[in-house]
Amino acid sequence: MAESRTIRFGIIGTGSIAARFVVGLAHVPGAAAVGTYNRTLSKAFAFNAQHNIPHTYDSVAALLASDIDAVYIATPHPSHASLSIAALQAGRAVLCEKPAAISTAELDAVLAVARDTGVLYMEAMKPPFFPLYREIRQRIDAGEIGEVRFVRAGFANPNVPAGHAVLDPAQAGGSLLDIGIYGAFLAVDWLGAALDVQALGRIGPSGVDTFASIQSRHERGISQLYCGLDCGGSGEALIAGCSGHIVIHEKWWNPSRATVVCANGHREELASIPQGSGLNYETAHFCELLRVSQHESSTVSWPHSRNALELILLAQQKI
Ligand SMILES: NC(=O)c1ccc[n+]([C@@H]2O[C@H](COP(=O)([O-])OP(=O)(O)OC[C@H]3O[C@@H](n4cnc5c(N)ncnc54)[C@H](OP(=O)(O)O)[C@@H]3O)[C@@H](O)[C@H]2O)c1
Repeated sequence: MAESRTIRFGIIGTGSIAARFVVGLAHVPGAAAVGTYNRTLSKAFAFNAQHNIPHTYDSVAALLASDIDAVYIATPHPSHASLSIAALQAGRAVLCEKPAAISTAELDAVLAVARDTGVLYMEAMKPPFFPLYREIRQRIDAGEIGEVRFVRAGFANPNVPAGHAVLDPAQAGGSLLDIGIYGAFLAVDWLGAALDVQALGRIGPSGVDTFASIQSRHERGISQLYCGLDCGGSGEALIAGCSGHIVIHEKWWNPSRATVVCANGHREELASIPQGSGLNYETAHFCELLRVSQHESSTVSWPHSRNALELILLAQQKI
């Protein structure tokens, strides 16, 4: 794809995160939303009018057949894998909201199609693309806290309205798949795949997990994670190395402030206020990959997505 060409996105699902995606897109040079599909067509028309998007389609197939380069999938969890496969088979690059799928079998099917077609596929796992996370990575790679051996992170939000998809078992809701997946990504990003997962949790009245506390042994260390829909949490993350540690302050999944503490006594406060909606950073990276014809991100690689999902599913089984 020519460097200068605008990357044309189609959006599947015009709910709340899709609106944040479009706000972010305005901060991504050389990218535009050109069409949408939504189950309720009237909401797609309203969305397009609000965000100045020219085309609305009445089927996924029609959107995929239109003049687009990529799709952003922003529908509930159970639809992610089948929509990703349909888009990849149509030759459209896929940026799919988290979780990438609701089972490892589903995700493997997606990745097989991505591999076979050579079309770009990336889970929209936003934290590692924020400027602060990139700075933290540079500092850890430079050895400021030594080899990472422990990760602790939490994300809990008790303000979910009754009836939301995240409380619906039929929509593969629950704290683990919805927000626990962020902590799982952080753990596997720094420590590798989980080898042994222990979990305690609660199932809420609607039948989904509303709280989970997980500890895991990974290839390179140990993690402690929590996620909840029925209580609050501090929203911090700790990345501990053999000669120091870094705390990413709340909300660590949209990182803006962190403290680095080195074993030699050096302490430093880091701050980087995100621009746009925050989703623009992952989108800019995705567009760069598309321009250079890469089909996988090294920042959110396919093994990252698979390892994080596997950790969450193992925890789910134990609750
Ligand atoms: N990255 C992030 O920061 C972030 C934040 C929040 C959510 N998410 C993820 O984004 C996805 C969507 O979440 P959201 O908060 O935007 O949800 P939402 O506001 O409820 O929007 C969901 C959208 O999907 C459509 N939809 C619902 N059920 C569907 C089905 N069975 N088949 C096809 N389309 C369906 C809805 O259409 P109607 O208009 O017809 O209802 C709506 O357009 C989820 O995977 C969630 O985990 C990511």
